[in-house]
Amino acid sequence: FVVNWDAAQAEKAPYPHFMLKEIHEQPQVIRETLRGRIEGTEIAFPGLKLDPGFLKSLRRLYITACGTAYHAGLIGKMLIERLVRIPVEADIASEFRYRDPLLGPGDLLVVVSQSGETADTLAALREAKAKGATVLAITNVVGSSVAREAHEVLYTWAGPEIAVASTKAYVAQVVLFTLLAVYLARLRESAPPELLRELAAGLPGLSETVQAVLAREEEIAALAGARKGWEHTFFIGRGLDWAVACEGALKLKEISYIHAEAYAAGELKHGTLALVTEGVPVIALATQPALWEKMQSNIREVKARGADVLAVTGAKAAEIVAVADEAICLPPVHPLLAPVVAVVPLQLFAYYAAVARGCDVDRPRNLAKSVTVE
Ligand code: G6P
Repeated sequence: FVVNWDAAQAEKAPYPHFMLKEIHEQPQVIRETLRGRIEGTEIAFPGLKLDPGFLKSLRRLYITACGTAYHAGLIGKMLIERLVRIPVEADIASEFRYRDPLLGPGDLLVVVSQSGETADTLAALREAKAKGATVLAITNVVGSSVAREAHEVLYTWAGPEIAVASTKAYVAQVVLFTLLAVYLARLRESAPPELLRELAAGLPGLSETVQAVLAREEEIAALAGARKGWEHTFFIGRGLDWAVACEGALKLKEISYIHAEAYAAGELKHGTLALVTEGVPVIALATQPALWEKMQSNIREVKARGADVLAVTGAKAAEIVAVADEAICLPPVHPLLAPVVAVVPLQLFAYYAAVARGCDVDRPRNLAKSVTVE
C-alpha cells in the first residue's frame, strides 16, 4: 500500500488548484495589506524611512515591473497622477533598463515584484540606483533580492503565491498603490481632503466587496464554461478599466491559451476594429461612471460589427447593461477603488475557462512563476 502524499496537494485543499485557493484568499489579503497602515481614515507606513521633505519635493515618479506587477503599476500610475498631480511613468522593466532612463538624484523609482527576484526588475532597480535615484520596492517576499537592494520596502502581505498566474499578489499591489497615492496626496495637499477621506474610508470595505463577488463564482463559472470554445477575444476599457483589461487579458491568455488582447477602447477605431466581425467576443470593462457614455458608444461600435459583448460594470450602469449582450454587475464601490473589485470576475473567468478547456491551471505551458534569467 503506497500513500501518495504530496505536501503541495494537501496545502491547496479543499480547492482543486492553487489559483482558485489564492483567488479566494483575496479578502483576507486585502485585510493583511491594510493592517497597521490604516487607522480610521489616517494612513501611515510604519517603518518607512523616506524623508517627508523628499516626498514633498518629488517632481515626477517612475514605476517599473514585469507581467502582472506591471499591470498593478499602471493602476498606480493613474491613481498617483490623479491624486498627487505629478507625472508618473510606468514602464516594463525590460524596456526601462535598456533605455538609459532619465532619472537621477531627487527621483523616486517604485519597483513592483511579487517574487522580488525577476531579473529585469532587479536590473532596472540597479540601474536606477547607479544613477543616484531612490528606489522603493513593493514586494511580497521578505528578504528577496529586490527587498534587500531597494532603499525602502513596502510589503504586500499576500502570503506565498504558488500558482504561476498571479492573482492575490496583484490585488495586494493595487491596494498598496492606493494607500500610497492617498498618503502622498495628503502629504502634498494635492487632492480635496474629502476625496482622500472617502477613499481611505472605503479601503477596508474592499475585503467584503470582493467577498461578495466571490459569492457569485457559480454564475461566472457558467459564463466562462459557455465560452470555452473561444479562440480570440478582446478586452476593452478606458482609464483604470483599461489597466484592469490588460490584467484580465493576461490572465485569460496565460492559463486558458485563448488569444486575448486588451485595448484602450478609444483606440479601437485606429485599427483593431478591423478584426471585430460577426460573433467576435469582447469583454468590456466599464466601472467608471464618468466614462460610461464613452464606453456605451464603444460597445455600440463593436456590436454594430456583430461582436458578442460581455460587460463588467457597475450596479447602476443601466446604459452599459442595455447595450451589452450580458453583464456582470459589480457591487457598489468608489470608482477609484474599483480595480480591486473588477479584476476578481476576470480572474474567475480565466480560471473556469481554463478548467473547461482541460488546461493545467497552476502550471501553464512555457511559463515560470519567477523569471530569474533573461
Ligand atoms: C512571471 C509570472 C507572472 C508575474 C511576472 C513578474 O511572468 O508568471 O505571474 O507577474 O513574472 O513577476 P514578479 O515576481 O516580479 O512580480
